[in-house]
Amino acid sequence: MKKISLYIHIPFCKSKCKYCDFLSFDNREDAIKEYINTLIHEINNYSSYVNDYEVSSIFIGGGTPSILSCEHIRKVFVALKDNYNINRNAEITIEANPGTLTTEKIQALIDAGVNRVSLGLQSCNNNMLMTLGRIHTWEDFLSNYNQIRELGINNINVDLMFGLPNQTIKHWENDLRKIISLKPEHISCYGLIIEEGTRFYKMYNEGKITLPSEEIERDMYWITHDILQNNNYKHYEISNFALDGKECYHNKVYWKEQEYIGIGLGASSYFKGYRYKNISDFNEYINCNGNLDEIKEQIQFIDEKTNIEEYMFLGLRLLEGINKLEFYNKWGKHINYYYKDIIIKLCNEKLLYEDDETIKLTAKGIDVSNYVLSMFLMD
Ligand SMILES: C[S@@+](CC[C@H](N)C(=O)[O-])C[C@H]1O[C@@H](n2cnc3c(N)ncnc32)[C@H](O)[C@@H]1O
Ligand code: SF4
Repeated sequence: MKKISLYIHIPFCKSKCKYCDFLSFDNREDAIKEYINTLIHEINNYSSYVNDYEVSSIFIGGGTPSILSCEHIRKVFVALKDNYNINRNAEITIEANPGTLTTEKIQALIDAGVNRVSLGLQSCNNNMLMTLGRIHTWEDFLSNYNQIRELGINNINVDLMFGLPNQTIKHWENDLRKIISLKPEHISCYGLIIEEGTRFYKMYNEGKITLPSEEIERDMYWITHDILQNNNYKHYEISNFALDGKECYHNKVYWKEQEYIGIGLGASSYFKGYRYKNISDFNEYINCNGNLDEIKEQIQFIDEKTNIEEYMFLGLRLLEGINKLEFYNKWGKHINYYYKDIIIKLCNEKLLYEDDETIKLTAKGIDVSNYVLSMFLMD
């Protein structure tokens, strides 16, 4: 049976964080019921397309999926189980915000099949959490983390951010060491991006927040690499670190260009050779009532050239890099047939490392990864 992964988008948050431009709404809890009903129609409507597929991972992301009631969580999982062949060892992740979890809710998630929780903490410092506009404290996080563990989840990710307003290297090191002491299986560390349209964007342009210099931000990144590696967290993707065997299967599906279906508002899919996105307008999405033909937009057939480009710039995000033999087996030609000159140029610039088996980003290449990855676009 072919393998497929599912992404389910829950676009609701208790309040909007000052840095975030993800597709999510605050103060719309009145609309959750209607949204879940539409989502379930969409889940049902995919049923006939996935008969010959087995689901190997599900990621419920947001927004704040942990805002859902136990009843809504159950309904979504019943629909998933009724319509898809879910492998009994599938990785099933939910993103959760500290302050939205209770023992009852964690138990409902476990009963529904969730076996991985991704907790968005961002910072261990309560003042910083306030600056970011988070709804929780460090203590709320700790309490939820311990509850999740006690109820038996043995696969937890913690999201952290660095390069934050007035953050020093010392602050960031303290955050890392505090988290390491809890021994989560996985840690994601993102450098803050000031996204257009966010409150931080306005504050930054009005001089109301001061960020660490680019040099310090890069130092923070490499300190992260050193500290986490020294504590048995393998740096396996630009922003991701995991204990042995605990790399996120679902994210690797994206980076390895495997098939996935995105369900819900604005969700992206890569399925049967096409990339497409669901519409992002909430009312339009509800009005389409899960009709697959009506909700899809930006439908793009991925021809071989695009496929190879994506294979390169997604695969190079992984620190193990691109395996040349795997490339040959997949595309029927040596990697040099397409990229010889680019590889030589980037190796000369010390942005890429090459040996007989692989090519991968160097440390210098990671620091300018957007530039390096863009070089793999063919004309
Ligand atoms: C889908 S988002 C949010 C998940 C969850 N709602 C939460 O806030 O914990 C996943 C992660 O992206 C990161 N993130 C969001 N906006 C960012 C930004 N502007 N710059 C860097 N990282 C960002 C945060 O670490 C966040 O936890
Ligand atoms: S960071 Fe998470 S909780 Fe904050 S607004 Fe974005 S999706 Fe919502």
